[in-house]
Amino acid sequence: MSKAAKTKEQKIDPRITLRSRLDVLFGQDLEIEGLAVKFRGLISEVGAPLAIDALIKHLEGTPKIKPEKLFGMLQLVRSQEIVDYLSQQIRNNKSLSGSTKSVMTVFLRAMGETVEVQEPERQPAPPPHKQPLSPEVQASIKNVEDDKYIFWLCWLVGGFLRQGDGNIVAMDYAIRLMPTGGAVIEIGSLLGLSTNILAYMTIKYRRDNPFFTCDPWEFEDTGEMVSGYYNFGTRVYRDYIKETFIRNCQTFSPSRIPHTIESYSGPFFAAWREGAQKTDVFGRPVTLGGPISFTYIDGAHAYGPVKQDFLDVDRSLLPGGFILFDDSADGSGWDVNRVVKEVQENPAYELVLKAPNYLFRKKG
Ligand SMILES: C[S@@+](CC[C@H](N)C(=O)[O-])C[C@H]1O[C@@H](n2cnc3c(N)ncnc32)[C@H](O)[C@@H]1O
Repeated sequence: MSKAAKTKEQKIDPRITLRSRLDVLFGQDLEIEGLAVKFRGLISEVGAPLAIDALIKHLEGTPKIKPEKLFGMLQLVRSQEIVDYLSQQIRNNKSLSGSTKSVMTVFLRAMGETVEVQEPERQPAPPPHKQPLSPEVQASIKNVEDDKYIFWLCWLVGGFLRQGDGNIVAMDYAIRLMPTGGAVIEIGSLLGLSTNILAYMTIKYRRDNPFFTCDPWEFEDTGEMVSGYYNFGTRVYRDYIKETFIRNCQTFSPSRIPHTIESYSGPFFAAWREGAQKTDVFGRPVTLGGPISFTYIDGAHAYGPVKQDFLDVDRSLLPGGFILFDDSADGSGWDVNRVVKEVQENPAYELVLKAPNYLFRKKG
């Protein structure tokens, strides 16, 4: 995807379709050269890191590609960018599971690189920016690692989180330590995987903070049929995502159903400021507004909307409150990188965790 296309607001998030596109691609029984051409096409569309991550997720599911084809394809698509990305992830991304690192090591070897085989790590360990891990971070790693319910949610509900994902560690940290009395807000819910994890954590840690989410579930027309087969911009697809979100909340968080407003975050926060009355997607009237204790920003990824999300949250965030920015990890390639660098310069905030995405706490 070109930089211009990437910064265009509300462009369909490529991660939503990437894995299903790989499933279709590898189900086609193409020769190695054909696979390599198509995989290179994906790389030029979304960038090497996203394409490689999706390939690994595909392999962690029910892979449709045979090992000999995988290795042949990897040899053909090899580039210095991929080698550097994999090496950097293996060396520096402590939040990756040992098995993911092993797969990355195998990829590097398939591409002719000499690498030490990484022993699978027992604990995913998000590095807190040059500081030793604090006892609270260690506690969150342990909480998440041992939690069977989160493990099952990640398998059962569609989304991008997996057990051991640093975002889940950061959520555990923020939910446990956030101030009382403010709302938990999620921007961008999709099918409700992160929503249900947040809901579950509020129950687990007996946090009765009000819980809101917002998502417009408006996906752009993909222009052409994906794999000549499916358009992810249709109303049918959109309704499926929204209805599945509702079912997922009712099924997995019946005692902690969030007040989800069908809206982009901009109008959501405008209504928040006004203390407006709304009806949530579960048909319940609710009054928006008040202080905020924790926000997970996972909606738009372009600079303007993410910066605006930060400013909107900042206005109501309680001292000691948290903001977690998805896809803000160094080198992620998303505009979110710029926003978190600016928040880091803001004296009112402290960076408490990079796992590898940025979690900030408001000082005071
Ligand atoms: C990456 S998905 C969210 C995944 C979800 N948080 C999870 O981890 O399970 C991004 C979602 O953000 C929504 N979105 C995009 N722009 C948004 C905005 N400005 N405000 C709120 N949601 C937005 C999209 O409709 C999409 O469902």
